Amino acid sequence: MCGIVAYVGDRTAFPILIKGLQRLEYRGYDSAGIALHNGTSHVYKCKGKVKDLENLVKDKDISGTVGMGHTRWATHGEPSDRNAHPHQSMKGKFSVVHNGIIENYTHLKKELSNRGYSFESDTDTEVLANLIENIYLEQNISAELAVRLALSRVVGAYGLVIYCEDEPGQLIAARKGSPLVIGVGNQEYFLASDATPIIEYTDQVMYLNDEEVAIITREKLELKSLSNDNLTPDVKKITLSIDHIDKNGYEHFMLKEIHEQPATITDTFRGRVAMDGSKIFLGGVLDVMPKLINAKRIIIVACGTSWHAGLVGEYLFEKYARIPVEVEYGSEFRYRHPIIFEDDLVIAISQSGETADTLAAIRKVKEAGATVLGICNVAGSTISRETDAGVYTHAGIEIGVASTKAFTSQITVLLMMAMLLGSKRKTLPQAEYSTLIHELISVPEKIEEILKEEEKIKKIASVYKDVSNALYMGRGLLYPVALEGALKLKEISYIHAEGYPAAEMKHGPIALIDENMPVFALAANDTSYEKMISNIQEVKARKGKVVAIVTRGDKSIRKMADHVIEIPECHEAVSPLLAVIPLQILSYHIAVMRGCNVDQPRNLAKSVTVE
Ligand code: F6R
Repeated sequence: MCGIVAYVGDRTAFPILIKGLQRLEYRGYDSAGIALHNGTSHVYKCKGKVKDLENLVKDKDISGTVGMGHTRWATHGEPSDRNAHPHQSMKGKFSVVHNGIIENYTHLKKELSNRGYSFESDTDTEVLANLIENIYLEQNISAELAVRLALSRVVGAYGLVIYCEDEPGQLIAARKGSPLVIGVGNQEYFLASDATPIIEYTDQVMYLNDEEVAIITREKLELKSLSNDNLTPDVKKITLSIDHIDKNGYEHFMLKEIHEQPATITDTFRGRVAMDGSKIFLGGVLDVMPKLINAKRIIIVACGTSWHAGLVGEYLFEKYARIPVEVEYGSEFRYRHPIIFEDDLVIAISQSGETADTLAAIRKVKEAGATVLGICNVAGSTISRETDAGVYTHAGIEIGVASTKAFTSQITVLLMMAMLLGSKRKTLPQAEYSTLIHELISVPEKIEEILKEEEKIKKIASVYKDVSNALYMGRGLLYPVALEGALKLKEISYIHAEGYPAAEMKHGPIALIDENMPVFALAANDTSYEKMISNIQEVKARKGKVVAIVTRGDKSIRKMADHVIEIPECHEAVSPLLAVIPLQILSYHIAVMRGCNVDQPRNLAKSVTVE
């Protein structure tokens, strides 16, 4: 949710921290701050973005070779200067940056108040800083021990970097539930919520696991469990490169990521489908293949856009592998009393691999003994590590807060899995299996064709940029795409938008239709085509405006709709991959025309590590 970056070594920390915060800003951007330590500590922080922080520190002392930075997505306390991180303890011994939530902070705050502590902010993080300080001073122990003792009293989630004035040149990092990566350089260490601030300095990284504490100086990294066992750091080479985190000439990351989809989908299926259409090979699930084949039921857990991909997966698994599927929001599933059997196959879908609700759902499933697969984009992420097996989407880093290329890559993986299972379970005949593989292989080229229509789609965007509401409707495999189209519009343009199965319109939403209401109709798939025509007519009869996504050459709907956007002819199974592209482009241009910050929409953050 928030972004953390920290450095200890010989270089001046400030530029590393600022650049790191810019890279992490997608994780939260309502306030930002840094602490620099050069004998004394200087803390600078303010409401707003990293650029506001840069303005704030002009003419200030920014020296120091040890430091930490934070970009915030508010949980406890409104975005403000005083609630921005880093937080310092009352007696000034500790500086802390934190990503996560301390759930029992009210209780701890009361206890500390009784011991004479006062608080400058509304945050749970300041409570933790004071708790550490209180233990440290009362027990006269090392900072590291004070941190471990304090954390043993904390209920909740944290990724933390902590500095103690009495132990200069040292940073303490700890993790439970919120990610932290440590980059290992030559006599220097970089810490961050993800690897993007690190990769230009070193490709050697280690991911901190839950309940681990790292004690880091420029000379060494010591790794311990919360209960003081010594652990060996598992340092790995990371493949992420600096090109992946540039805009490459595009105005926004979201636009770049929309345009990357022909390449990212190819990266998702490359090496996994035989180009002659004969087979699919998913190395990541090989070990659990018998369990997959014999699964009595598939439960898909995810949130947001990934949940929409899961709905597409439901149609695909049921149709091709003939396995019943339930698609669950992580947040609901974790708190229900779900019935989970050992022969259930649970698939967790997550771009970031860090979403708290999805992660909690996985943990619940694992307790029940079912097999869990992950479909994640971020290699080494918590979900990818906690699942029994899985398939990476390989879409490359997604920086725009609104998910685009991750969605199409998730669907690509789900389609490959459904086909593979269908083939193994003999529910998908070889000829159709082969046709589907060829269809998938042809998708990137077809998306290129849609992207060439961007100017036309932009003109349509200009017609609808000032609406207050919009409806999206689709059937079958295009119903989840309607949901995704509506989510894309509302999250980046702040236009109220809802998606529906087209047949549901007449059960309520049709009451909203008048001459001001645009309806985006996904009418490109064959099996429900005739029924979509009826649904479009129902909208037109009530004077609604219809923008229809149709198959190239369609004549019937062109006569009824106010605007049509054509997509190339394709097999129904891959139609979500094509039909979503014009909706992403439409949302993007509407949002830009409305002056919205498309890469960093208000109130949102890329990685939702709080529940
Ligand atoms: C919407 C969006 C979110 C995420 C959701 C789950 O554009 O990006 O709805 O899909 O927060 O995130 P992941 O996939 O990282 O688990």
